[in-house]
Amino acid sequence: MQIPLVDLKRQYQAIKPQIDEAISKVISDTAFVGGKYVRSFEERFASFCGVKHCIGVGNGTDALYLALKALGVGPEDEVAVPANSFIATSEAVTMTGARVAFVDMDPETHNMDPNRLEDILKERDARTSRRCFKAVIPVHLYGRPADMDSILEIARRYGLRVIEDAAQAHGASYKGRPVGSLGDLACFSFYPGKNLGAYGDGGAVVTEDAELAKRVRDARRPWPAGEVQSRGGGGEQPPRRAPGCDPGGQAEASPFVDREAEAKRRPLQAVPPGERPQDPGGDE
Ligand SMILES: Cc1ncc(COP(=O)(O)O)c(C=O)c1O
Repeated sequence: MQIPLVDLKRQYQAIKPQIDEAISKVISDTAFVGGKYVRSFEERFASFCGVKHCIGVGNGTDALYLALKALGVGPEDEVAVPANSFIATSEAVTMTGARVAFVDMDPETHNMDPNRLEDILKERDARTSRRCFKAVIPVHLYGRPADMDSILEIARRYGLRVIEDAAQAHGASYKGRPVGSLGDLACFSFYPGKNLGAYGDGGAVVTEDAELAKRVRDARRPWPAGEVQSRGGGGEQPPRRAPGCDPGGQAEASPFVDREAEAKRRPLQAVPPGERPQDPGGDE
């Protein structure tokens, strides 16, 4: 008998009407990227984590990368991560060009051992490395919060910023405080099999700091604030297609191609300069 680790089909069957209704609303409002549903989720998730700001992003790895960039981490820097985590924790550091410093785990909790963190920082101080330690990413592995009091205290003494990797710990708390509210920023994954799984890829950065939140929001995507992202303009118009940009012939299959206009289309070179259309300056 096979017992799946996570049975998403069964989970879906248990809440099918709510899920179908929610997805159908997103489709009928063409709110596919960002928009009011993401905004509403961001507000509720920020409050769930006990912080002021939440920024929805593509996935947990993007969340970590954007959090690191918001702190200005780059190729000159070093970031401490637990040796025992999913690869995305260190991968996000590598993506910024910074170097990963692996910190061994506490054999009891399997989370970052604060004593080993301090050992590494002391050793680097003594060796005066070219790179400087800018941040530490404690991971709340399997939903068990890292030893945040000790890590925060060490980080303060050595001038490190703290990013919680809470990708596996939605809803966990540490000494009465929700994870996500403990460091400078915290990152979540909504990968479908996670404690809070999306129907697709998803992630979020949460923080109490308005300036850091702005940096993550600005870097996430150049969205105009508050706009529903629908190329269809709120559902009234089908997406525009630039004429002549379909060498693969897929336009034939699209119900949105204006075939009459296509038939009348002349190559631009054949149109006298004075009669050429102006670039509408759209977003396609
Ligand atoms: C501890 C940890 N950090 C980061 C991630 C990355 O999240 P995502 O898969 O959404 O990119 C995961 C995902 O499994 C994770 O377990």
